[in-house]
Amino acid sequence: MNILVIGAGAREHALLRGLSQDPTAPRLHVAPGNAGMAELATLHDLSVTDAEATVALAREIAADLVVIGPEVPLVAGVSDALREAGFAVFGPSRAAAQLEGSKAFAKEVMASAGVATAAAERIAPGASSGEIEAALDRFGPTWVVKDDGLAGGKGVVVTPERAAARAHADSVLAAGNPVLLESFLDGPEVSLFCLVDGETVVPLLPAQDHKRAYDGDEGPNTGGMGAYTPLPWLPEGGVERIVTEVCEPVAREMVARGTPYSGLLYAGLAWGADGPAVVEFNARFGDPETQAVLSLLRTPLAGLLDAVARGTLAQHPPLEWEEGSAVTVVLAAEGYPDSPRKGDALRGIPGDDPQAYTLHAGTARGEGAGYVSAGGRVLSVVGKGEDLATARDRAYAAIGRIEMAGSFYRRDIGLAAVEGRIATP
Ligand code: GLY
Repeated sequence: MNILVIGAGAREHALLRGLSQDPTAPRLHVAPGNAGMAELATLHDLSVTDAEATVALAREIAADLVVIGPEVPLVAGVSDALREAGFAVFGPSRAAAQLEGSKAFAKEVMASAGVATAAAERIAPGASSGEIEAALDRFGPTWVVKDDGLAGGKGVVVTPERAAARAHADSVLAAGNPVLLESFLDGPEVSLFCLVDGETVVPLLPAQDHKRAYDGDEGPNTGGMGAYTPLPWLPEGGVERIVTEVCEPVAREMVARGTPYSGLLYAGLAWGADGPAVVEFNARFGDPETQAVLSLLRTPLAGLLDAVARGTLAQHPPLEWEEGSAVTVVLAAEGYPDSPRKGDALRGIPGDDPQAYTLHAGTARGEGAGYVSAGGRVLSVVGKGEDLATARDRAYAAIGRIEMAGSFYRRDIGLAAVEGRIATP
C-alpha cells in the first residue's frame, strides 16, 4: 500500500510513525515533510494548497491512500480534487471543512444540531467604532475575540481587559476578516478527536492541550505547547457524553445538509457546570495532542484511516489502546510565537526509544548529520508510562537533553492533572 501524507509538522511525523508500525508495512511518502521524517518516508516538494500538483503527485506515486494533515489544504478543497481524480482520501471535503474554516458556519451547524456552545456574535469588516463598542458591551469580562477564519490557533484573544479585546478586534477587522465575539466558557478544556464517516463516529482518547506559551498558562496563545492523554479528571462516561451530545449530532447534521463529514473531527470543549460545551471544531488531527494520543493506539493506523477514507468505518473492529498515559512537550524557538528565530543548531536529540522519542516539526538539515531549527515549534518530545507522572518524567528527561540556543519549553505540561488540581464544576 502506498500512502501519501500531506503536511510538515510533528502531527504528520506522528502519523508517519504510526503508519510505519502498521503490520501491512505500507510504503510512505510525505509532502512537503521535514528533515526529521526522511527515515520513515520519501519526501516530495509540494505547495499544500495546490490541488493540481497534489493530484499529480498522488498519481506519480500511485497512492492508495492520501492522508491530509493540516487544515489549509482541506479548506482549499484539495481533498475534493483528489476524490474527483479517484483517490481514497482521509480528510473532509471543502464544504465539510468549513466547520473549522468558518467559526460562524460551525455555530450555525451547532444551533441546528442542538449542540451546547458559547453564545456568539459576528462583526463584519467595515463595522463602525460604535457598533464594535456596542457588541463588546454585550460580552465580557472575560472577552473572547476570534478571527473568523484560519489563524493557526493564534487568532484568539481571551482577556479580562476590554482595551485588549478592542485592539484585537480592530486588528482582525483591519486585515479584512470578520471578528467573532463569544461568551467565555468556564471549566477545564478537553480535546476529543473523533473519526467520522457519515453518521459513524469513533472517538479516540481524550486529551488536553496547553495553548499559552509559558508556564502557568501565561503569555500569548500558540499553536499548542504540549498535551497529555487520557484525562484522569474527566467524569466517568465523559467521552460517551461528548460523542452523543456533540459529535454524533454534528455528524448527522452534516449528512442532512448533503455535506457528509469524512475524516477527523476535533471537538475542542470546555467542561462546565452543565457538562461539555464546544469552544471550536477543527477538521483535522490536533497538534500537539495527536503526538500523545497516537502513541497509545494499538490498532493498526493504516487500516483505520483507510476505513474512514473508503466509507467502511462502521465495519471496523473496536479500537485498542495501550494502558497508561502519554505526554508530549514542544520545544519552541526563541521568539515563538511572534517572530521565531531560525537556523539554530540542535544537539542531543535522544535516540528512538518506545517510551520516549522525538518528532520533528520545524527542522531542516544542518551541517553534516545534524539539524537546525526552521520554524517556531521545532520538536515534540513524547513520553509514555504506566501513569501520567511517569510519562511526564520520561518526556522531560528526554527534552532536557536537547540543546538549542534560545529554545524554551513549558515545564508544567500535565502537572495540574498529576497534582489533582483539575476538577470539573
Ligand atoms: N491543539 C490545537 C490545534 O491543533 O489547533
